Amino acid sequence: MTDKLLRKPLVAGNWKMNTDRHEAASLAKGVVDSIGRQYKADIVLCPPFVWLHEVGMVLRDSNVSLGAQNFHWEDKGAFTGEISGPMLKSVGCKYAIIGHSERRQLFGETDATVNKKLKKALDIGLYPIVCLGETLAERESNKTGEIVSNQFRGAFEGVNDFQNITIAYEPVWAIGTGRNATPGQAQEVHRLLRQMLKDKTREFDKIRILYGGSVKPENAGELCVQADIDGFLVGGASLKAIDFAAIVNAALRKCQGIRHF
Ligand code: PGA
Repeated sequence: MTDKLLRKPLVAGNWKMNTDRHEAASLAKGVVDSIGRQYKADIVLCPPFVWLHEVGMVLRDSNVSLGAQNFHWEDKGAFTGEISGPMLKSVGCKYAIIGHSERRQLFGETDATVNKKLKKALDIGLYPIVCLGETLAERESNKTGEIVSNQFRGAFEGVNDFQNITIAYEPVWAIGTGRNATPGQAQEVHRLLRQMLKDKTREFDKIRILYGGSVKPENAGELCVQADIDGFLVGGASLKAIDFAAIVNAALRKCQGIRHF
């Protein structure tokens, strides 16, 4: 058994390709006003690239960190339309999501590109949130364990320092569908990931594994009491400050509410 109290909950909001300039600033302000002053959880907002600076200004002096949804593994050069890790750092990003299933499914991201991005993030001091998860067809053919293990091995190949890494398990069939994994289904995969971490590092107990996929204020609590769920990566519900704050509060109450020995 792992000691959940070693891990501070983390809740990240992935705004995806949503919000205009005004909405981005006011959503960030709403989050800061409702939960931006507590220090018991790490809170991250990942707006579209074009609003990073503006949202960063709103988050200044709060306990909410800035994160990006993606980046390129090279530092600079002829990569039209891409954004680099150092650019994210210079605009104030602390975190970056890597390998989100929409990047994998719609933009050709592979375990190999996830691995390159992860190594770059670690190199330059960006805190990566590495996403993995199976599709519905894979789950229905009982391949969840195999798929997630392969993604894990591909993403973390050659990586030894896990200190700044967060993992997000996001079953593809639960993303944006309103359908979420049951707490038991989620915990089963989180436990598998914890075991894989154990083979990689003695610090396996300190690494946060988030759940993502239709997380809402109503289901956050029951998910977060699971032994290996340490917070959430939230899409749709992060677009309303009140819902996002309620999810953070559920994580604060439940994620560390019980000791698991
Ligand atoms: P969702 O998205 O909460 O809207 O399902 C989660 C995600 O894509 O990270």
